[in-house]
Amino acid sequence: TERTFSILKPDATARNLTGAVNAVIEEAGLRIVAQRRIRMSDAQAKKFYEVHAERPFYGELVEFMTSGPVVVQVLEGENAVAKYREVMGATNPAQAAEGTIRQKFAKSVGENTVHGSDSLENAGIEIKQFFDDKDIVG
Ligand code: GTP
Ligand code: MG
Repeated sequence: TERTFSILKPDATARNLTGAVNAVIEEAGLRIVAQRRIRMSDAQAKKFYEVHAERPFYGELVEFMTSGPVVVQVLEGENAVAKYREVMGATNPAQAAEGTIRQKFAKSVGENTVHGSDSLENAGIEIKQFFDDKDIVG
């Protein structure tokens, strides 16, 4: 079994959708083995999205991720990384498949409700940025 890192973004907390999103996650067979509601600092968001630093939307992305509370999570399950990417749906909600989190809830490419790690390696790196091993209970 694998672990992946997830964020319920500010558009999800603003609309009181954290339970609804978690229901989709759990129905897909992923287990929430760590979870914390936080306000991301500017420094945390910049570091987290460092790989996108050269993209035109970087500033907007960091601004959005620090605009309200987020819920950071560790999800566990068989092929958790790929499974969660499937459950999230395409980055652009207009292209997200039926039944996916982004198809159901996302408002736009920017305000797209969830983040999920794109590789097992990045999952490990991202989990470490927000959780101590002892706070992940599988
Ligand atoms: P994450 O799981 O959040 O990493 O999404 P992703 O892997 O589906 O997308 P990607 O890593 O390519 O982009 C990271 C995030 O940047 C996206 O989830 C969006 O929130 C944001 N983003 C991507 N493209 C755009 C864009 O064209 N405009 C804006 N405002 N935000 C964008
Ligand atoms: Mg990504």
